[in-house]
This record gives sequence, structure tokens and C-alpha cells, in this order.
Amino acid sequence: MNELLFDPDTHRKAGHLLGELLAGYEGDLSNPPGFGQIDRDAMRAIMTEPLPEEGRSLEELFQEFREVVMPNSTHVAHRRFLPYVLPSPNGISAFADALASTLNQNCNLWTLSPAANAIEQRVISWFQDLFSFPEGSGGIITSGGSMANLTALAIARDTYLGTSARMDGLQWRVSPLRLYVSDQVHNCVDKAAVILGIGLNHVRHVPCDSQFRMRMDLLKEAVMQDRRDGFSPFCVVGSAGTVTTGAFDPLDELADFCDEEGLWLHIDGAYGALTVLSERRRPHLQPAGRAHSLSLDPHKFLFASLEAGCVLVRRAEDMRTTYSFVPTYLSMFSDPDFLNYAEYGPQLSRSFKALKVWWSLRAFGRKAYAKAIDDLCDLAEYMEARTEAEPELELLAPVTLNAVCVRCRNLSDGQNERVLARLLSEGVAFLGRAEVKGKFCLRACFMNLRTTRDDVDRILEEMVRFGREEMRV
Ligand SMILES: Cc1ncc(COP(=O)(O)O)c(C=O)c1O
Repeated sequence: MNELLFDPDTHRKAGHLLGELLAGYEGDLSNPPGFGQIDRDAMRAIMTEPLPEEGRSLEELFQEFREVVMPNSTHVAHRRFLPYVLPSPNGISAFADALASTLNQNCNLWTLSPAANAIEQRVISWFQDLFSFPEGSGGIITSGGSMANLTALAIARDTYLGTSARMDGLQWRVSPLRLYVSDQVHNCVDKAAVILGIGLNHVRHVPCDSQFRMRMDLLKEAVMQDRRDGFSPFCVVGSAGTVTTGAFDPLDELADFCDEEGLWLHIDGAYGALTVLSERRRPHLQPAGRAHSLSLDPHKFLFASLEAGCVLVRRAEDMRTTYSFVPTYLSMFSDPDFLNYAEYGPQLSRSFKALKVWWSLRAFGRKAYAKAIDDLCDLAEYMEARTEAEPELELLAPVTLNAVCVRCRNLSDGQNERVLARLLSEGVAFLGRAEVKGKFCLRACFMNLRTTRDDVDRILEEMVRFGREEMRV
């Protein structure tokens, strides 16, 4: 057998070593590791190692992983790791990823991935149903929310430009395109606007109300003014879960406005859209189904491991208008039951990410996600209530999803930064940095399936203690 391949016994041994390692890792997470303590010598040794001429045994590789890679990794699955919209992954994802690598399907042409194709179609249609996207809509699994937003905004741009899009791009236009977002939008939308040639000067960041929702009156004014000034408004991006506070823009009003004005409505639901899995949260999400395109991230509220994003598009044909290129070397027999996903997005080679999305839903079922989502939002509300009851702490934004923005009331921004740093360096918790209404704050984003109310109590108690110590310095 070729030495790059494993025989059945080696496969079994590797599987056993993997199972042992995963089981041990889960156990270790109950003992809080320090955060951010890195063995720099070990890291330098990795960074300077010469290219190996000979291979190493499985035992050596797993031992090195256990002794060097794991302790120098950020334990995102730890119950007080709360800085970003980055969950502790569900149990099945690691296994789905291993199997996806085993089959190594190329999910571009259906002939290279028939079962994966059926699975991707099915998960997309489950998502379409959750948002009542109509017959004729489409979608594709992406690497994450940033790629989902970029994929959608290219389609929005090209649909506006029509037949000239493919041959002339933006090169012939006198009237610049204008994109409207709120001042709370995730920066990947700005990045997409730059990549797509729209330019930041043509992204209008519309101010928000006191609940961090885009102000409709100011949006309308901006669009009308731009039309009068000779610009070409083409698209509005609403957020279903803004990155800092988890706010939802007024999605129904945005949909009405975009209908009236003939604008493409894209909803960035990377953060919040999948909370639709909870009956309690679903009513907030229903209007998202009126969008022309919607991003959602299974690697957030489906707790799939990185990477798994998704974009839904109201008219699947619009996806093909932007992305379908079929040179002879990629042409394939078409089949009414299957899609060539290479024609629906920017990537050619695509991994079988749909497997972990499919298994995430099949292994646990929707109800388990509804409970997990509700529990995490409840934890955020618990932290909100505890913060409001603590005179030395200040809540900076109402809790609408699972994020809490808090600071020590009588301390400066710099002192609050030091409190955040101490929480991290003393192994209490890893919280995020945020700015709300011009003030620096600490942000806890509850995405972690192990976090309890005791963890919230501990974090707030330590914040108060560190805050008092800062006052004395
Ligand atoms: C609102 C929002 N949009 C987009 C993104 C980017 O998603 P990703 O990190 O999957 O690219 C995030 C990430 O947290 C987000 O919160």
C-alpha cells in the first residue's frame, strides 16, 4: 500500500486516539484553564521547525497535539469564554468534519458529490421554510457570514446593473451606486462594499435609535437626498442581530420601504437569524423572509464548528446571473434533481460543509436548539438584571438577544480596559471589548453551552472587586 495511505488497523488506531483525545478534552473544560497563557518557546519551535524529511508515528503526532497544540489553544468551549459570537461547538460537528474529509466530495458539480448535493439542497430548503422563502428561491452554504454577505451583495449589485454587469462591471457608470446600512452594521459589510468596487464613500451609515435599530426616517432622507444628488441607491442591509448589542433593525418597515423604492433588501442574519429555531424568538425573525437575500450562520446558533455559513436568495436565478460560468472543462450533464453549486457562488472547489449542518439538526433536532437558544438568552437577561441591581456597574444597552454590554460605573475607559484585562489574566473570564454610545465596555456574549448563572455571578463579583481596586490605585 502507498505510504501516504492508512491500512484498516492504522485507521482504527487513529480513530481510537481521536476518541480518547476528545473525551479527555471535554473533561478538562470543567477545570478553568488560564486564558491567553502561551508557551512562547513552544510556539517558536513550531515556527522554526525545518521541513521534515521523514514521517512520525501516530502516537507522536497525537502526543504533540495534546502537549503543545491543545494547551496553547484558546479554549472557546470553556464556559466563561464569552467575548464573541463564537459558540462551543455541538458534539457531532467534529465527527461530521472527519467524515467530510474522508469522502472529500467536491461540492461544486453534482456528479462529484451526489449525496452531498442532496444534503445541501435539503438543509437549504429547511432554512427557506423557516423564513417562508418562496418557491424559486435558492441558497448556498458558505464559509461564514462574511462570505454570505459578500455573495449576496454581489448578486444585489449585478441585479441592479442588469446586463452590463458581467461585461462592463462598474466601469461605465457615471452615477455611483449607494448602499445603506446602519451605524451598527458588521464591518464585513463595509469590507464587501470595498471588494465589490462600491467604495466606503458610497456606503451610507444611517444612525440608530436608542435601541440600536436603524432609524427609518433617516434612511428615507438619505435615499431621497442621494437620488436628488444623482447617485444610484441600490441596496439596504438590515441586521437581524447587530454584532455589539444584538439589536434587530425594523425588518418589516425596511421590507416595505425597499418594496416602495425598488431597492434590494439584504438582511445580515449571521448572528441572529438562526434564533428562528426557537418558537419564542421566531416572531422577531418572520419579516426576514421578505428580504431579497438573507445571511445566516450555522457556526453560530446551530453550534456547528467553524466553518459553516449560508445565504438564501429570493430568486435562485439571480445567483446564477452573477456566478454561472461554464467552461468546457467544467460542463456536466445537467439533471433536474441536482444543482451545480459552482454556478451559485464564487467558489469552485467546495468542501462538504453541509454534512455538519445536516447532522447538527438530525443529531439533536430543532427542539434542542430552541432550548439552547432560550437558555442562552435567559442567561443574558439574568446578567442584565444582576447588573442593574448592582450600583457600581452600568448597563450600556438593553439586552435583546444574548449579548450584555457592561462597565464599572465610576471608572474611566482606561480603568475599565484594565478590569477586562485582569478578568482575562487572572483566569476569571474572557469577555469582549466593545464601544457603546462612545463609551468603552465589556461585552459578554452567551454562546457557550456550558455557562451557568454561577459563572455570571462570579464574573460580576470579580468586576466589582477589580473595579474597587482600580479606584484605590
Ligand atoms: C452581525 C454579523 N455579521 C457578520 C458576521 C461575520 O460572520 P463570520 O465571522 O461568520 O464571517 C458576524 C460575526 O460575528 C456578525 O455578528
